[in-house]
Amino acid sequence: MAFAYASLFLLVICIYKPASSQQNHSTSIRLGSSISTNVQPTSWRSPSGTFASGFYPQGSGFIVGIWLVCKPADIITWTAYRDDPPVPSNATLELTVNGKLLLRTYSANNEAGEEKLIARIEKSASNARMLDSGNLVLYNEYSDAIWESFKFPTDTILGGQNLYAGGELLSSASTTNFSTGRFHLKMQSDGNLVLYPIDTIDTSVDAYWNTTTFASGTHLYLNYTGQLLILNNTLASGTPVFSSDSESENSSTIYRATLEYDGIFRLYSHNFDSNGAYTTSLMHYAPKSQCEVKSFCGLNSCCTMNDNQPYCSCLPGTVFVNPNQRYNGCKRNYTEELCKVAEETSS
Ligand SMILES: *[C@@H]1O[C@H](CO)[C@@H](O)[C@H](O)[C@H]1NC(C)=O
Ligand SMILES: *[C@@H]1O[C@H](CO)[C@@H](O)[C@H](O)[C@H]1NC(C)=O
Ligand SMILES: *[C@@H]1O[C@H](CO)[C@@H](O)[C@H](O)[C@H]1NC(C)=O
Ligand SMILES: *[C@@H]1O[C@H](CO)[C@@H](O)[C@H](O)[C@H]1NC(C)=O
Ligand SMILES: *[C@@H]1O[C@H](CO)[C@@H](O)[C@H](O)[C@H]1NC(C)=O
Ligand SMILES: *[C@@H]1O[C@H](CO)[C@@H](O)[C@H](O)[C@H]1NC(C)=O
Ligand SMILES: *[C@@H]1O[C@H](CO)[C@@H](O)[C@H](O)[C@H]1NC(C)=O
Ligand SMILES: *[C@@H]1O[C@H](CO)[C@@H](O)[C@H](O)[C@H]1NC(C)=O
Repeated sequence: MAFAYASLFLLVICIYKPASSQQNHSTSIRLGSSISTNVQPTSWRSPSGTFASGFYPQGSGFIVGIWLVCKPADIITWTAYRDDPPVPSNATLELTVNGKLLLRTYSANNEAGEEKLIARIEKSASNARMLDSGNLVLYNEYSDAIWESFKFPTDTILGGQNLYAGGELLSSASTTNFSTGRFHLKMQSDGNLVLYPIDTIDTSVDAYWNTTTFASGTHLYLNYTGQLLILNNTLASGTPVFSSDSESENSSTIYRATLEYDGIFRLYSHNFDSNGAYTTSLMHYAPKSQCEVKSFCGLNSCCTMNDNQPYCSCLPGTVFVNPNQRYNGCKRNYTEELCKVAEETSS
């Protein structure tokens, strides 16, 4: 969590994982196609191999999601059923002959398996594509998109993706746990883009950052050149969320804006060269200090910055709820001798 403070332009080099000849780069996912947790390939790749969708290892099981393929660590950009436990191995993801995108999990005593729809659609799909933008799209027989992962963001939007009025990004629980975490970014219908802790009623006193873009637009859009804009429905230009954006057109750059587990909204660029090496740069972030993230430290605690690192400390008379997770807040120190306190107050 501390890396954001050291320098604005932190560079992380990661090596793009070249697709093996085994991998199926077919651009269209046809009806009847399936992938499974225990047979390679366990994902559908985009034509260039930049993005993949399918089964991603998580603990002893898998999550279903979309990720930017990158070593040492892939970057998860979308997850399905993020608050459900990971699926055990021996699961399949299938675009059925009936045009449904279905997750099937099996356990020892249920041979038929349990089914979950990944895309809730009324009509049947005719095919699907994992696009190089990171969007997984289902099409009908007229090639109209009938479902897109871009319409259901979790904690991230990518270049070309919108966050519509009423939409929100919900942070993940941690860098390795993609369940819903403690903060959300709301694109409000009043045009304002606002960050709140999750367990609040989202009034202005709960907010810890906003764009003050009332009536300047209806949705948030990350364009392909890395501009994060509040747009009106009809307008091509909009109000920038971060000032002094100076990104250049670069077809080998992927932009990503993520509300991270620590409550900070960050805009990254991922550049990859012809050798397939990625360079990740942090371009902008808000708020600027971890302690500005309301309730970052949880209940009954204070947040202080020390050497550009946030420190959570408990209010007098309280102790950490979980000493290993100092941002989970503090509770009364019940080991304190209550009788002694009573004596003092009565004397
Ligand atoms: C690639 O996938 C498509 C549809 O998903 C399938 O029809 C084709 O047989 C696969 N090709 C290989 C080489 O596995
Ligand atoms: C999953 O396990 C069940 C029960 O052991 C088995 O019948 C089924 O064929 C397996 N399915 C896959 C996709 O491996
Ligand atoms: C992930 O985070 C959620 C929400 O905080 C929690 O309920 C779940 O137990 C965590 N999962 C793991 C594997 O730690
Ligand atoms: C929005 O941000 C402005 C300036 O940063 C601040 O003055 C205002 O109180 C904030 N409003 C809300 C609702 O957070
Ligand atoms: C956006 O649209 C609203 C309502 O249609 C309008 O009041 C507002 O002036 C527009 N904002 C910009 C920046 O054009
Ligand atoms: C992104 O937005 C900026 C500012 O509105 C604009 O100058 C640029 O042309 C846009 N790029 C694309 C690819 O739309
Ligand atoms: C695009 O980005 C790559 C990697 O940073 C860089 O090598 C290349 O020169 C850039 N191309 C343009 C046209 O800016
Ligand atoms: C909690 O109270 C006990 C008993 O007074 C005391 O020994 C202990 O140091 C306190 N813990 C903290 C973290 O203050």
